[in-house]
Order: sequence, then C-alpha cells, then structure tokens
Amino acid sequence: MVSEKLLTKMSSGSWIRAMFEEGERRRKHFGADKVFDFSLGNPDIEPPKGVIRTLRNLVNSDEPNLHKYMNNAGYPDVRKKIADSIHKDTGIPITEKHIIMTCGAAGALNVVFKTILNPGDEVIIFSPFFPEYFSYIDNHGGRTVVSPCYENSFDINLQELEKNITPATKAVLINSPNNPTGVIFKESTLLQMAEILERKEKEYSTKILVISDEPYAQLVYDNNIVPSILKIFPNSVIVNSFSKSLALPGERIGYIAVNKTVSNADSLINGLIYCNRILGFVNAPSLFQKVIGETLDEKVDINVYKQRRDFLYENLIRMGFSCVKPQGAFYLFPKSLIKDDVAFVNLALKYNLLLVPGSGFGCPGYFRISYAVDQKTIINSIPAFEALAEECLTKR
Ligand SMILES: Cc1ncc(COP(=O)(O)O)c(C=O)c1O
Repeated sequence: MVSEKLLTKMSSGSWIRAMFEEGERRRKHFGADKVFDFSLGNPDIEPPKGVIRTLRNLVNSDEPNLHKYMNNAGYPDVRKKIADSIHKDTGIPITEKHIIMTCGAAGALNVVFKTILNPGDEVIIFSPFFPEYFSYIDNHGGRTVVSPCYENSFDINLQELEKNITPATKAVLINSPNNPTGVIFKESTLLQMAEILERKEKEYSTKILVISDEPYAQLVYDNNIVPSILKIFPNSVIVNSFSKSLALPGERIGYIAVNKTVSNADSLINGLIYCNRILGFVNAPSLFQKVIGETLDEKVDINVYKQRRDFLYENLIRMGFSCVKPQGAFYLFPKSLIKDDVAFVNLALKYNLLLVPGSGFGCPGYFRISYAVDQKTIINSIPAFEALAEECLTKR
C-alpha cells in the first residue's frame, strides 16, 4: 500500500531517530543509568510553573467554547497578544492579522511551503541543517538546495549563497539559534544577505521569501541577541513555537508571523490560513492557544541549560575536542576526533554514548550532542567521553 516514493524515503531513515531507538534498546539491556543518550532534542525539564497553573485554571474554569473549532488562523485575542509582543520587541507594528497559530514550528513550515511552492521551486537551506527540512520542502513539491556555512564559525557563507540563488529560488530558510550548532547568525551577515537577495530579485525579476525558523529564539546565553528578521528582510516570515521555550513539544503549539512589508501580504496571509485548514491541521490546539495567550512572558530557566553547556563545553575542550561555543539552543556540535564521523559515533556506542553524526545534518566530520538531558546523565557521561577521546587520540 505504501507509495514507492515513501518507501524509498523511509528506508533512508533518520540518524536522530536511529540513535534514539538504539538508546531504548541499550537502556533495556544495560539499565538507564549506564546509557548516556544525547541523541534527541526533547526538553527534559518541565514547563514553567506559571504555564501549568494557567492550564489547570483553564481546565477548571467555566469559560465557554474552549474546545470548539475557531477561525483557522486561531483565536484573535491570542494572536493579538503575540503580535503586540513582537511589536514591542522589534518596533515592527504587526497586528493579529499577521499571526497564524500553528501546530508547532514543524506544522508552520509545512503550511508556509504548501502556500508558496510551485512544483520545482527551490528553497535554499544552510548546512549544517535540521534534517526534517528536506521532507517539509519535498512534501509540497519543492526542491531543497543546500548552501554551506563556514566551518570555523558556522556563519553563513554569503559567496556560496549568491551562487546558489537562481530564477527558481522561491525562499531562503534560516535557523538561528541553530540546530545543530547553537550559533546565532550575525546581524552584519544577515544585512549583507539582504543586499544579495535584493540584487538577485532585481536580476531575475523574482521575489524571494526569507523564512526564519526560530524555535530556539528564547534559549540564548551570555546576553546574546537574536537579530530581528522582520527588520532586516522586508520579504520575510517568522516561524516559531513554544516546544523549547516553554518545554511543550508534545502540545504542538506555535505560530507564523508575517512581515507587514511582505509582497502581496494579504494574499500570502489568506493562503497560509487556507493551508492550515486543508493540510488537516484545521487550527492549532485550542486549549494551548489559550495557555500561550496567558503565559507569553514565561520561559524555562535558561540557567539550567547554560550550566550544562558550560560544563560539557569545558570538559570536551579539556579532552582535546574542538567546538564552536554555542550561543543558544541546547546543542553542541564538536569536531569528530576521527575523520569519519559515522565511524566515530559507532565507536562511541562502545561506551554507551549516543551521539548523532554530522553527516545527518549535512556536515560530515562533526557530531551533535543534545544537552536537553538531565544533569546526572551529563556528569556521569564524562568518563565515557574521556575514554572515547583517549581511544581516538592514541590511534591518531
Ligand atoms: C530547527 C528546528 N525547527 C523546527 C523544529 C520543530 O519544532 P516543533 O516542535 O515546534 O514543531 C525543531 C525541533 O526540534 C527544530 O530543531
């Protein structure tokens, strides 16, 4: 029954899932405390207390119509609160009209691609990338074009980007803070990118939409700032979710924010609302829209993640790993100690360390550690990392 195309796609699998499943097997076999599973970006910490309190209050309240269908864009009052908060943060006066509530960032990306892509249109993504992008673009008939970042900084290589823009380029997708590197793209880089896009749009008489996938925008360390995409790119949309900032990934709640200055804004907004419906999402989860409306100022305790980042980063550097220090998100992306990152990750299994090879993110020679993992596992994993490092370094 399953289509040929899907069978091929399913057989190529996902490194992240494969490692997670390996972890499940090993936990059963060795015991959970002997396995150091850094494979999945699934927040281990609980949502802020204010979020749980609001949820309880709502469930116990007599508020009518809490569980009904609503406008496919979502509740107007919730959308207004999100628009006001973006306006306050960026100075860009968007209104509830520009916000569409979605089933997480993943749902939002599918809605955006369904809305904008004609068959064969190209979407540029940057490596290393979140691997699901390929599926989301392919789901709607698009073609993914991969443009590299610089290896020493993981900032965008603008010369390569310029070469990769063609008359078929419909969108450029950026993700900052980045999964898997934790890097925040520099404002100066993004401003130069805006100039390149403007030049190319003129050259080809096209419009290129910048899609900024920002589920980690609230998880930022050391007072770093995520540059405002709406200010830099007139033709842009933000895709965001509360999966990471409020540790609610299972609740599937997020939104799309459309820039006021996007070309044919009304038509794009209508298309997005329509696609939210016809993709079968219909609307974002009702109860959690209401929760978000009340808890926009909440966020998880960023210090918990910061301590883990610092602890892991300092220990890995001491052991001889090299790594760009992440500025946000909850991932480290160090260089593999042997050239072949897949062989390295397989070797790590000998020490019950579950890591994801950089090849899975379009960046061989590296590996990803997700530190959305409890503190005890992180501390107990250090001897395993030390043994792995020693084995690799003595072989070199
Ligand atoms: C870069 C990136 N984009 C999108 C998503 C999807 O997030 P959501 O749970 O909001 O759908 C993830 C999830 O890990 C991610 O890392």
